Order: sequence, then structure tokens, then C-alpha cells
Amino acid sequence: MESKRARLDRFISVKTGINKKYVRLLLAKGQVLVDGEIARDIDLIIDQFSHVSLDGQVLQANAPSYVMLYKPVGVVSATIDDKHKTVIDLLDREDKHSLHIVGRLDLNTSGLLLLTNDGRWSKKLMSPQHKVDKVYRVTLKNPIDESYIVAFAAGMYFAFEDITTQPAKLEIVDDHTALVTLVEGRYHQIKRMFGRFRNPVIGLHRLSVGTIELGLQLAVGESRDLSESEIQNV
Ligand code: URA
Repeated sequence: MESKRARLDRFISVKTGINKKYVRLLLAKGQVLVDGEIARDIDLIIDQFSHVSLDGQVLQANAPSYVMLYKPVGVVSATIDDKHKTVIDLLDREDKHSLHIVGRLDLNTSGLLLLTNDGRWSKKLMSPQHKVDKVYRVTLKNPIDESYIVAFAAGMYFAFEDITTQPAKLEIVDDHTALVTLVEGRYHQIKRMFGRFRNPVIGLHRLSVGTIELGLQLAVGESRDLSESEIQNV
């Protein structure tokens, strides 16, 4: 999801009806503040969350939203769906239709789902370079053993996408339960990785994304705003 970006002089001109030539004069005179700093550069690119004021009059002040949801099984990670309830339907907030999902979960996966309207934040979180850890608790139909650890760490070739998965960490919790840490999010990745062992996943639950943990505070289907430190330090 792209953030809405605009050139500062054009934004002010459209917002106030002042012609661009005069806007440039106002900028040169230091009468425009962007995020609390005097802005003189006509080429400055702002987005929908830049705080902009002219001569003390606020032209734009939108606060971005960052939300965590405890996604239940059976709810679809989409903003609209014909058949199933969506994660947006579970939210009780005015700006819910402005939010997008940061890293989907399958219909039958539960756990931590992040939503925001800040395209720059979600892009950073999802970028392959950023390598944000996603930790899942996985319940398997058949027993697992040490050979899984080696195979997950080595990466697996997915012919459909023609890629080899990034090294993934697998920790055995008990015979039928593992914790898996991924730094990427390929289509049905965990199910396909266990599929190589012909071992069906019967339960999948996301515990954390980077430093953001689902924790015990939320009941299934509940959501809350992220704290400032969760937003900054993820
Ligand atoms: N891997 C899967 O197979 N499903 C998910 O929802 C997440 C990771």
C-alpha cells in the first residue's frame, strides 16, 4: 500500500486556493511549517501524515493508526470478502476502512495480525531486506524429529515461485508442536514446508512479528492500538 505523497507547494496551493507562485513566496518567507520545522523547499515531498501549517493555521494533521488484532480461525485476512467475515469486520473503530493488513494469515491460522494506514511503516516491515522475524506455533498431525530442524535451516526449493526459502529456525516443543521463525512470508509457507515431510499442519498460530508480541492481554477477536515503542522498535 503506497502512502499518499504530494509536492509541498502543490499541496498548499490545492488546499488553500492560493496560486503556486504566491505559495513559493510564503515558503521563502518561512511561513510554512512541516512537522514543526520551517519548510522553504518547494520540492519537499509530504505524505498524508505530515503535519502542515501556514501562518499558524493547520492545513493537515492526520495521525496514522497502528493496530494489533488477535485473529481468530475462520476469519479472512482481507478487507472485503463475499463468503467470510473479514478482519476489518472485527474492528470497532471509525478509521477501520482506511487500514490495510501487514502480512496476511491464512483463513485457518490464528494469532497476531497487524493493520495500519501508514504505507511507509508496512512497506519497511514487509521488505525482504528488513528480515523481520515472524514466530509461529505449529501443531502437527504426525510426530516431528531433529531432521526437520536441519531441513528448515537449509531452506527449501519452491518450484512454483522458483525460489529457495530463507533459513528458518525450528524449535521442537514436544512430539507434535514446534516453534517456527520465518523472515519472509511465502504463500502457505509453513504448511508447504511441513508438506515436504508429508506432515499436515493441524494448528497454526502467530505469536510475534519482530519485537511485537501478541501476549495474553487480548482475547480472540479483540484488537488494540500499538504503543509508541512497539511502532518504533519493531
Ligand atoms: N504459513 C502458512 O502456511 N500460513 C500462514 O498463515 C502463515 C504462514
